[in-house]
Amino acid sequence: MSLALNFAQQLRAQEALHAQQLVVHDDLQALSAAVAQRIAASASAAITARGAFHLALAGGETPRHCYQKLRGLEIDWAHVQIYLGDERCLPQGDPQRNDSMAQQALLDFIDIPQGNIHHIPAELGAHQAALGYAALLEDSPRLDLVLLGMGEDGHTASLFPDNPATESLEPVVPVYDAPKPPAERVTLGLATLNAARQKIFLVAGAGKRDALEQICRGKALPAARIPGAEWHLDRAACPGF
Ligand code: 6PG
Repeated sequence: MSLALNFAQQLRAQEALHAQQLVVHDDLQALSAAVAQRIAASASAAITARGAFHLALAGGETPRHCYQKLRGLEIDWAHVQIYLGDERCLPQGDPQRNDSMAQQALLDFIDIPQGNIHHIPAELGAHQAALGYAALLEDSPRLDLVLLGMGEDGHTASLFPDNPATESLEPVVPVYDAPKPPAERVTLGLATLNAARQKIFLVAGAGKRDALEQICRGKALPAARIPGAEWHLDRAACPGF
């Protein structure tokens, strides 16, 4: 690991992101390995303390490498409950769904009971799926860890800048008119994401630099509205000052 920001810049970015911690990794591989280790450590601590680990996975492409690395770590998967932070309203099994990515990168390779995997039923449409998932979460304990990505426009999960879903107080929110396809989605609301015990952002690539710079200049993009998260960046994503 090496830092692409000097100490003052790092502090400034950490403050703007309201981050508990900001770590800059050399590249996506190093970032993915480090976050996989963090997840394994959190799983072990939660299972020891409370007998279960409730984990919400991020979608998009960045976490794929981290999920692949998780396969090789010693995790007591029988005591892990898996959720999705957001889902795209597409038919079950569609390769563009976030749960399909998680399945191919991780779930197909680990020894986890099917009943421990809680898909968002986005194939029912955003409204129905959000109601169903909210009911499920209401009967579930507080999430231990939420993994999050950040889009080039500063969105996180499916909370997009200027989209009404981002202002919703509901635990799970239907999303319409998303600028990243598909337009219809379902997402955990800001309140649910913020209520998790631990939040970890995985952000890699030069395409993310502009949004991070905007946040550092004070713009309250959705990703900056989850205080107390750990931010893991690669050097390419680091904001220039
Ligand atoms: C989705 C996501 C979304 C994603 C970011 C980052 O459905 O696309 O859940 O919030 O995490 O857009 O995506 P990348 O990692 O692919 O850049």
